[in-house]
Amino acid sequence: MTLLLLVLMGFHLQGEIVHEWAGILFTLLIILHLYLNRHRLWSLSPKLPSTMQVVNRTINAATWVVILIATISGMMLSRHILLDLPFHNPAGWVRKVHMTSVH
Ligand code: HEM
Repeated sequence: MTLLLLVLMGFHLQGEIVHEWAGILFTLLIILHLYLNRHRLWSLSPKLPSTMQVVNRTINAATWVVILIATISGMMLSRHILLDLPFHNPAGWVRKVHMTSVH
């Protein structure tokens, strides 16, 4: 997943089709990763101070929302593989949302 993220952020070094496949694979791996770790998604060590638990959960929730926005906006923008999606939308604002969330 780390390697894929580097490939994704190197958008301008590869073709768009490579980027789109990498983005789809990355999305599927995130889902698999969350599924495999489902038993400890919200279970933090009770030894962790309660303030740190709140900080930890806030960061995790924010990361999840940003990744979700990045992948959905990428699929909306798709110019090659996912053109037939009912929510396909290559509008400027979607591009801005994709750029902001991925960075
Ligand atoms: C979380 C995963 C993803 C990351 C980190 C990522 C990252 C990026 C980056 C860095 C750019 C280049 C922006 C620029 O400087 O011009 C970009 C553009 C783009 N991405 Fe992604 N992307 C992701 C997922 C996806 C997915 C799943 C798709 C589609 C299936 C997608 C489709 C596109 C398209 C079409 C562009 C070109 C937008 C334009 O220039 O109008 N991305 N992405």
